[in-house]
Parts: sequence; structure tokens; C-alpha cells
Amino acid sequence: MLTIAVSKGRIYEEALPLLAEVGIEPIDDPKTCRKLILRTTRDDVQLVIIRATDVPTFVEYGAADLGIAGKDVLLEHGAESLYEPLDLNIARCRLMTAAHKNAPPPYGRIRVATKYVKIAQKYFASQGIQAEIIKLYGSMELAPLVGLADCIVDLVDTGNTLRANDLEPREHIMDISSRLVVNKAAMKMKNQAIASLLDQLEKNIAQKN
Ligand code: ADP
Ligand code: PRP
Ligand code: MG
Repeated sequence: MLTIAVSKGRIYEEALPLLAEVGIEPIDDPKTCRKLILRTTRDDVQLVIIRATDVPTFVEYGAADLGIAGKDVLLEHGAESLYEPLDLNIARCRLMTAAHKNAPPPYGRIRVATKYVKIAQKYFASQGIQAEIIKLYGSMELAPLVGLADCIVDLVDTGNTLRANDLEPREHIMDISSRLVVNKAAMKMKNQAIASLLDQLEKNIAQKN
């Protein structure tokens, strides 16, 4: 049996067509069903539905053989103990700094609100900017509006969330997409099944790009 960890929401929605192309279609729909383990049209493959930030943990411990996670989540988690063989090119966005549209450029020691503490620390250090990082779990865009922080580090896609909150994108830190990750022991023990799945996925993705 192969277990694949995916998060509900955009990763699930965008991964579904890729998985369907390799014959993996969940039998239940996580939107309407409270099951956390989903059987699929392939008897040897099941999906587990977890929070996006938990995907590296499940795969690292071998609770899932494979997982689909954003590069942002993988970098922040520090997923060195996982294989990351495939860029699925889904859930694409940019990790950026953003500030109030009228705010001056950063000067001196600045306060930064983000859920990406490690990435932000590394980024500001590389820029020679002294930054105090304030860890948040969501609604980062609010922080500059209420004086909690000078700027934020967050994901930007259309820019609608920034615009709706009078913020503007400033520095582009990196491009983000979702990756397939694999447990190292599973890669050995279930090599045939995993290698053939990787091969099929890779061919389909290459055709699209
Ligand atoms: P969460 O509940 O953790 O925010 P999401 O489904 O919003 O879960 O995000 C999962 C992953 O999708 C993120 O780690 C990121 O890689 C990507 N992502 C998040 N927001 C966007 C977005 N607005 N557009 C495209 N991809 C995104
Ligand atoms: C993400 C991200 C931004 C927004 C950016 O939030 O944290 O707030 O998308 O996308 P945009 O540039 O197209 O507006 P998400 O929709 O995932 O909400 P949540 O993580 O706070 O639930
Ligand atoms: Mg989100």
C-alpha cells in the first residue's frame, strides 16, 4: 500500500487532476466527507488528508510514503531528511515582503510579521537588514495596519489580498510551487511502486510545461 499525504484546499484541488492521470481517484470527497483516510480507485494507493504544514512531518516519520507540499512549507520545516524528486508545478505563487503602500523603505531595525520565521530570518540577514521577526499563524496582512509590524513576509498570487488591505508587494524572495516529497526508507522498501508513480507523473508534467 502507498500512502500519499495531501492537504485540503488548493493543493488537493490542483493535485487531483495529476493524480487522476495516473489512475488515482479518491472514492470519497474530502469536502463532503469527514474521513481522513481516503481510499482510491487504485487498491494499492490511499490518501491521507492533513494540514499543509504537517505534510513534511507525516512523510519524515513514514506515516505517509509520499506527500505533496509547498516549497514554502518545506523550506520552513527544514525537510532535509526527505527526498524531493518532483516539482508538480501546482499552487504556484511568490513569497514576498509587503508593506503599507505609503510606508518608507526599511530603515534601521524593522519588525516583520510572518508565519515563515526561518525563511524571513535568513532573507533579512542576507540583505544585511536587522529584523525582529514576529511569528503569526495567519492574517499577516493585518499586522502593518495595526502597528504590529513594519512589513510582512507572505505568499502573493493575484495580489488581491495585499490590495484589499492597502499594502503593496516590495521584495520578491522566491517563486513557490508544490513538490512531491518521498520518505527515504519508503523509497528503498517500495521502490518499484514509487519509481513507477514518479515516472508517470514526471512524464505527464513534462508534457504540460
Ligand atoms: P494553509 O491553510 O496552510 O494556508 P493553503 O491551502 O492555503 O493552506 O496553502 C497550501 C500551499 O499552497 C502553501 O504552502 C503554498 O505553497 C500554496 N499557496 C498558498 N496560498 C496560495 C495562493 N494564494 N496561490 C497559490 N498558491 C498558494
Ligand atoms: C494566501 C496567502 C495570501 C493570499 C495571497 O491566503 O496567505 O493571504 O493567499 O493570494 P492573492 O495574492 O491571490 O490574494 P489563503 O487564501 O491561503 O488564506 P489563508 O491561508 O489565510 O486561509
Ligand atoms: Mg493559505
